[in-house]
Amino acid sequence: MRIDAERCDLCGRCVATCPERALSIESERLVFEPPCVGCGHCEAVCPKEAIALGAGPLEPAPKLPEGATEQIDLCIRTRRSVRKYKPAPVEREIMEELLELAVRAPNSANDQVWEFAVVQDPETLRLLRDRISGYYKSRLGLMRHRRLARLLMRLMGHCPDLVDNPHIRNCIPKLVEFHESGEDMLTVGAPALIIGHAPPSATNGRADCIYAMATLMLAAHARGIGTCALGWVQDALAHDRRARDVVRIAPGRLVHTTIAIGYPDEEFLRIPSRKPPIVHWL
Ligand SMILES: Cc1cc2nc3c(=O)[nH]c(=O)nc-3n(C[C@H](O)[C@H](O)[C@H](O)COP(=O)(O)O)c2cc1C
Ligand code: SF4
Ligand code: SF4
Repeated sequence: MRIDAERCDLCGRCVATCPERALSIESERLVFEPPCVGCGHCEAVCPKEAIALGAGPLEPAPKLPEGATEQIDLCIRTRRSVRKYKPAPVEREIMEELLELAVRAPNSANDQVWEFAVVQDPETLRLLRDRISGYYKSRLGLMRHRRLARLLMRLMGHCPDLVDNPHIRNCIPKLVEFHESGEDMLTVGAPALIIGHAPPSATNGRADCIYAMATLMLAAHARGIGTCALGWVQDALAHDRRARDVVRIAPGRLVHTTIAIGYPDEEFLRIPSRKPPIVHWL
């Protein structure tokens, strides 16, 4: 942390915004006392450029232009889960742009320990689908033994009642059946996947990866790129070492999100309705 005492007029803006209470004004001097999560709020609010975490000047943060609200709202409202894709993957530089936006998402304690596997090699995708289909096939017999299945669910960190969830009971046999008949229900025919993972030591790695992916999904939609969260693939990757090996995720990392990504091969002409939010005002 660099504090330029010459420039600092002790206005106190940085002190007031610091989430760690790491800054204070004592004896007419700005004092920094670690620890600090490195969020950059202090340097972002300083009108005098008197405090800095890194070396270079920061890029400015202009106000959103007129009309941005409507555009952003529209982006949120018109995003849909895309399950029909053109074969060509999204260009590397656009993927990089999206991932750079993804890591702008809120993340616990500013850990930034998320990592992303971008899988677009067709052979790797095929091997992954084969492995995951095998994983679910091995679970099919188990579904007939409710007590055992409930126990397994509990061990996997899920609610045991999910064993009776009609969506789950319907989908697991179909995932296997469709895969074996050559239809890609698992990765919805997408030319690429993005898998988000974090170490167990992260303060809240699961939430971090989910926020990052949700951010990326909206940024992708704004560029005409489709995405779909892939819970089945995600769950298999989270629990099956052999599936993780296919996409070379290092042992010890926890897989928290998986999405399909690519150029849509379908057009949505209307915005389906949603249940109104159930809100408890207190
Ligand atoms: C955690 C999570 C897991 C999901 N898993 C799948 C999946 O495995 N396959 C799929 O086709 N869609 C999956 N979806 C997409 C949902 O079905 C979809 O978001 C929902 O139907 C609402 O539609 P919309 O995203 O188009 O608004 C998942 C969504 C979430 C949030
Ligand atoms: S970077 Fe964030 S946590 Fe660290 S001193 Fe500045 S405002 Fe506080
Ligand atoms: S915001 Fe800038 S000028 Fe104000 S107290 Fe902090 S470092 Fe000094």
